Amino acid sequence: MSLFRTKDIETMLAASRDDGLKKVLGPVDLVMMGIGAIIGTGIFVLTGTGALTAGPALTLSFVIAALACGFAALCYAEFATAIPVSGSIYTYSYATLGEIVAWMIGWDLLLEYGLATSAVSVGWSGYFQSLLSGFGVQLPAALTAAPGAVPGVQTVLNLPAVLIMLAITWVVSYGVRESARVNNIMVAIKVAVVLLFIAVGVWHVKPVNWQPYAPFGFAGIVNAAALVFFAFIGFDAVTSAAEEVRNPRRDLPIGIIGSLAVCTLLYVAVAAIMTGIVPFPKFEGIDHPVSLALQYAGENWVAGFVDLGAILGMTTVILVMTYGQTRILFAMSRDGLLPATLSRVHPVHATPFHATWAVGIVFSSIAGLVPLNVLAELINIGTLSAFALISIAVLVLRKTRPDLPRTFRCPGVPVVPLLSVGFCLFLMAHLQPFTWVAFLLWLALGLLIYFGYARRNAVLHR
Ligand code: ALA
Repeated sequence: MSLFRTKDIETMLAASRDDGLKKVLGPVDLVMMGIGAIIGTGIFVLTGTGALTAGPALTLSFVIAALACGFAALCYAEFATAIPVSGSIYTYSYATLGEIVAWMIGWDLLLEYGLATSAVSVGWSGYFQSLLSGFGVQLPAALTAAPGAVPGVQTVLNLPAVLIMLAITWVVSYGVRESARVNNIMVAIKVAVVLLFIAVGVWHVKPVNWQPYAPFGFAGIVNAAALVFFAFIGFDAVTSAAEEVRNPRRDLPIGIIGSLAVCTLLYVAVAAIMTGIVPFPKFEGIDHPVSLALQYAGENWVAGFVDLGAILGMTTVILVMTYGQTRILFAMSRDGLLPATLSRVHPVHATPFHATWAVGIVFSSIAGLVPLNVLAELINIGTLSAFALISIAVLVLRKTRPDLPRTFRCPGVPVVPLLSVGFCLFLMAHLQPFTWVAFLLWLALGLLIYFGYARRNAVLHR
């Protein structure tokens, strides 16, 4: 059964010690990295649609999505301390469930992170253009969006989306310490902006707007949860930094659970305040729901800050997701499943240079040429399946390697991992049939590449 061959964990740990990557990140960097990847398009753009789907009970949708993520986060944290090696869940499955599962999940993560960077770049471009127009600057229509993205307008390329993606690729290829520094500054500003929204907005809440609380019933709440799940994606990217952390066994769980906890509190507060200021039907057709709430309350200057926070927020999402993507490619290539050049580390910058630019060029092209708004669901299904899988893998690791030292243990095994699987499958069932078809096609393509290339070139095979 060589399809299910597993990698030896001790060999992996040894290889990770002299991999050429710099061990410079600490717990604060990791929490900031998690928040960097989490707060973005989800809260600043999708909450409008969420409020239309669930009504004021959007707050509950956030709680449901947070629970699904929280259970998975506990499983991630255990793995991150047991096998602190680059590649996140791809690596964990290679050690527990076997090569073909690892390959498929790595392939799935490429879809999640890749499309997330492209989709968020497109969202960034929208906010950026509206900021420019505030200063009276207008781009030529052809360069504002992907072909066919705007009905009735001849568009060729989403130039701002391409440029932001390439700029971030440059930062990530330059060095991990530099990337973390850029990220920390922008995250501090975006969290300050969210706190400002809460502090100012709370005084404008009219409880009458929370009545009726759940106009679309439980179905509305769950459908909105499947959508705003997007807002939480990203805490898993923290684990991809494992080989660049000074003390991974202590700091990775802090980064994963800390960032998720902070964001959950902020999201629930923002959702409650937004729907308390604005009667929810007014979010129809609005792509900047958070700043709309402040405009509605007459706090126009704060609304301007929120727009700025949204732009910075999305920038860090692209940054951390790009980073995570390159480290997964790095790990897959080191294992021989992808060409060796993707795991070559730059002698000066100590980053996987080719992998980084490959990611930048491919996904900036997608951001420029494909109207991606519809694909948020595809990102969700990819992530949910990864979360379900890691929860199963935690149970397998407890059986196969009970002896492995773990500084963090997922509580309530097997109930918590099983709840995680259940929540993820439940949310997946609420996604569109089209999403399922596209997802299965992507997995089929992955299988072809596995049997055509990866299997024969795997280090384990040679
Ligand atoms: N959680 C990230 C966002 O909302 C993907 O932009």
